[in-house]
Amino acid sequence: MDQNALKLAAATLALDYVEDNTIIGVGTGSTVNFFIAELIRTKARIKAAVSSSVASSKLLRDGGFEVMELNDAGALSIYVDGADEINRELAMIKGAGAALTREKIVAAASEKFICIADATKYVAVLGRFPLSIEVIPMGRSYVSRELVKLGGHPEWRMRDGKAVVTDNGNWILDVRGMTITNPIELETTINQIAGVVENGLFARRGADVLLLASNAGVERISQK
Ligand code: 5RP
Repeated sequence: MDQNALKLAAATLALDYVEDNTIIGVGTGSTVNFFIAELIRTKARIKAAVSSSVASSKLLRDGGFEVMELNDAGALSIYVDGADEINRELAMIKGAGAALTREKIVAAASEKFICIADATKYVAVLGRFPLSIEVIPMGRSYVSRELVKLGGHPEWRMRDGKAVVTDNGNWILDVRGMTITNPIELETTINQIAGVVENGLFARRGADVLLLASNAGVERISQK
């Protein structure tokens, strides 16, 4: 199976966790786009969704679903999202789609985090994939210097010669060279740097369930 077929397989299984008349959290990215397509195809009878990005909100609204502000929704039953990397403890690196801050807020407000991923995302040690960090624009250079002190090689995320701007109006640094053996500690340390809005380590609040798709099928891995 190609990677898209695996993403679809994981996304389809996530429908098992969607209950009628609930408000669900929906993440961002190509795997989640398959999940949104499945919600639409199966005409899921959710009450509404809270989304982690402008892009996902548009897909949900175009599919006929109500998209609520998190402030109006209260606690969410589930949050479904992808990952760039995920380890056995279900700690993740997220943020390739620049939506990490809203993703972390919606995840925190959800009772259960369902991560949907293909097998290429499952790693023994986090850190081969660059760690995304959302920064206040005026702090970019200072934060970069602090990340170098932590052993990282930060790079300012650009597209077509322009800075990528998040839905919150901030910039993204992608940090390479970090071997992340203690993700909880590093998540906390990076968030202490002045100018950091949020970092893409999801370890303090990792996933509760991983739906991991490979050619052998979709495995359900639960938080121990
Ligand atoms: C966006 C994210 C995505 O969940 C992550 O990048 C995975 O994306 P994809 O499903 O396209 O591989 O964190 O900020």
